[in-house]
This record gives sequence, C-alpha cells and structure tokens, in this order.
Amino acid sequence: MANETNNFQELISHCKEYGYIFQSSELYDGLAAVYDYGQMGSQLKKNIRDYWWKSMTQLQENIVGIDAAIFMHPTVWKASGHVDSFSDPMIDNKDSNKRYRVDHLIEEYAETLDTQARDSLIATMEKLLAADDMVGVKQLIDENKIKCSVSKTSNWTEVRQFNLMFDTQIGSIAGESDKIYLRPETAQGIFVNFLNVQKTGRMKIPFGIAQTGKAFRNEIVARQFIFRMREFEQMEMQFFIRPGTQKQWYDYWKEERLKWHESLGIPASKLRFHDHVKLAHYADAALDIEFEFPFGFKELEGIHSRTDYDLTRHATFSKKKIQYFDNELNEEGKPFGNYTPYVIETSVGLDRLFLTIMSLAYTEEKWLKEDGSDDSRVVLKIPAMIAPTKLAILPLVKKDGLPEIAKELMNECKGSFMCFYEEKDAIGKRYRRMDAIGTPFCVTIDHQTKEDNTVTIRYRDDMRQERILLKDVKKLVLEKLI
Ligand code: GAP
Repeated sequence: MANETNNFQELISHCKEYGYIFQSSELYDGLAAVYDYGQMGSQLKKNIRDYWWKSMTQLQENIVGIDAAIFMHPTVWKASGHVDSFSDPMIDNKDSNKRYRVDHLIEEYAETLDTQARDSLIATMEKLLAADDMVGVKQLIDENKIKCSVSKTSNWTEVRQFNLMFDTQIGSIAGESDKIYLRPETAQGIFVNFLNVQKTGRMKIPFGIAQTGKAFRNEIVARQFIFRMREFEQMEMQFFIRPGTQKQWYDYWKEERLKWHESLGIPASKLRFHDHVKLAHYADAALDIEFEFPFGFKELEGIHSRTDYDLTRHATFSKKKIQYFDNELNEEGKPFGNYTPYVIETSVGLDRLFLTIMSLAYTEEKWLKEDGSDDSRVVLKIPAMIAPTKLAILPLVKKDGLPEIAKELMNECKGSFMCFYEEKDAIGKRYRRMDAIGTPFCVTIDHQTKEDNTVTIRYRDDMRQERILLKDVKKLVLEKLI
C-alpha cells in the first residue's frame, strides 16, 4: 500500500509547475494576492463552475441563471450598504508599519495558546467584534501583549475600519467622469434584476436567481495562496421566498449545500458549519460552511438569511416599487398578496472551491517495488467528472502506424471530453506526467493493438492496468465521468 502525504507548500509549487496557477504579472515580480489560472487550472475552474451551474439551474425547476455586469450604478453600493459598512477593522504596528486585520492578528496569536485559553480568547474577540467595540478589541490586543510578527513589538495604533471596495472612474472625458466601484459581490446584480427576471421568466415564489462572476475586494491582508485574493470569482444564488418562511429555507439550503460539497467528493469529516456571531449588515442569520484546508478549518461558502433588506433598500434608493404579487396567497384569502420577498443566499468562492479540490487531490505516494527498491509519484486525484483532461492517448512508439491509430481515437473522443495526445518519452514517464496533472485515464496503443484491436487502459488512482477493446474506450470513459 502506498504511503501518502499531503503538503501545502508542495501543492503551491506543483500548481505552478503543471500549469494550474501562476502569480499574476510574474514577469514584473508579481502582483500581491492576484493570480492567473493556466492551461490546466482554467479548465478545472471551468469544470467546477459548470458543475455548480448545472446543479443550481438545470437540475432545479425554480432557479434560473443570469450574467450581470461587473460595473453597476454607484448608487447600488450606497443602497446595499457597502459604501458605509463594507469594511474590516485593521490595526497598524507603528514600528514595522505592517497592517493587520485584527481578527487575523488575534486568531494567529490564539493558535499559540492551549485549547481552553484559545477558545476563550476567540469567544471574547467575537463578542467584541459583534458589538462593534473597537476600543475593547484594542484593549484585548494590549492585555494579551500580542506582537507584530515583523517588529516583534506591541506598539499598535488604534483599531480603524477600512472599506474594501475598489473604485475607478467611468467616462472618457476628464471632468465628466464619475466614481464607480468594482463589485465586491455578485449578489447585487441579482437584486437589481429581480423584477426583470421575475416578470420575463414568469417566476413564482419561491424561486432563485443564480450567477457566477468576478468580485473584487481590497483585502489588506491577503494570504494563503488563492484562499484570499483581491480579484476572485463567486458562485451565488439568491432564493426569493415569502416573509416568515426564512427559517425553513435557511435550514433547507444549509443542508442542500453541504450535500452538494459532499457530491464533489469532499469527505463529510472535512466539512462543518460555523454560525456567525457578528452578522453582516443585511442578515438575520448566517453561517459558513467551513472546509479543513491544510492551514485549518476556514470559510468555503456562506449561507445568509438576507431578509428583505436588499430589495427594500433598492426600492427606497431607486424610488421604484419592488414587490411581488403572490396570487396563491390571494387565492387562499390571506392578506398581504403584495410583499417584498425575503431572501436566502448561498455564496461560494470558486477559487476557494478550487483550492479545496486541489488540497484534497494532491498526494505524494511512496512504495516498495517487488525488487525491494523505492518508487514514488506525485498524483492529483481530482474526481474524474471535473478533471481538466479526462483521457491521455499514448502510442507506445512513434512509428509502425501506432500514432495513426492513436489520432483516430483522439478524433473519436475529443468532441465528447478533453483528451491529451503524447508520443514523446518512455511510457512510464508519460504515465507519471499524467498522474501529476491529474488525468484519470491513460490509453496506450501498442503493437498488439494492430493484431487484436485491444489497448491498455491505466487508471490513475490505483495505477491498475487492463486490456480493453479499442472501440470500447470512449464508452468506458464516458461511463466513469458521470
Ligand atoms: N454575497 C455574499 C458574500 O459576498 P462573503 O461571505 O463575503 O458573502 C462569499 O463571500 C464567499 O466568497 C466566501 O465564502 C468565499 O468563498 C468567497 N470569498 C470572499 N472573499 C474572498 C477573497 N478575498 N478571496 C477569495 N474568495 C473570497
């Protein structure tokens, strides 16, 4: 049995070496907390996005998808509360000038304590943050003599709030330009289109609107690779419901979303709920689905009961009526046929999900061969249904008509799933490379293929090999992708 290890720093290097993730603008020494997805990474990201999109739209009877613009009217962000409240409490160390998010600073210090002291410190911090008591938070930092990791001193400024939105100018003529924001969440594009979609789609409550797309936040402390970035992608769904039913739908979506993550092969033991103590300005209940990343349990997805906050605020700021006429309530003879719907939101970061999949997939294996010598490999055990490349087609040698047979198979399969053709290097080396990029199936065409139309199929995860008919390859791979 292979001996397996899982290492975060190694994973980061592996992502670069095999075309998954590159530092943005690396040529110019990079841009902090911004990343590019390479030839393998962009395909994996697309596959994860498609899997989400399919399960949130195609497989639902009452959820539709949209694609709203990143730029929105600046008043949207006034109405949503982001201009006034979308900020993080920060503190600067006066000696090193290093800026910290106070919760990160305290959490990091708490990790150095025993379990009881850690839990008590975190609970106190959460209580103070929930009460917006920044003086109390500063006192907590002082009392614990928390130090800056650079200067090693406790010479801190007061705790201050920093808005996380990026702004820019719109309009090409100087003087006529106006400040607009890069959206910090995709959700507002859904809220401002609520009536458009409800009316044109003849949607009946309860119904949802889903969207995937880029969001931007000027994270002061950006860390842990693609976990916290300044430009990232969200996959969000707003589920519009009758007022008073929010508890029931909140519980429903919380369980549905947990099951969904498990359907992607994430073990239940690595997922947990974390209820928010400090609620965002729009929520009456909220929780995170946390995943156990290599650096600990952290937020992967947020489930928020957003009440009627957003629609009511947009109605106020736009001076337009945003309401739903509930025929069924009316028919039941109940009052309030017209109301502002309540909303349950599910919001997962695509990049965080990518990191989740990669940290589960990355495996270093070592084993003893029959002759007693060591062997090893690095393998990405990405679930076949989302793996970037599904099938590698490998002629054993570059001659004797084997490449021709391989290319024919390539032509047969490439319309149905991503294939990779490789005729260079020894076959063992090619298998290792396919393991390293996470290709679940390799097919080798050899001289026997010419005699009996069979090929060797090799399975990535257990390295098992078997002989199958050439004509069955496509069908077999398709069956394994479901
Ligand atoms: N519309 C609600 C909303 O934006 P959030 O909890 O701030 O809620 C939702 O963000 C998800 O977006 C998070 O659970 C996380 O997966 C992802 N996310 C948030 N900030 C991120 C960042 N700086 N980098 C990468 N992903 C981020």
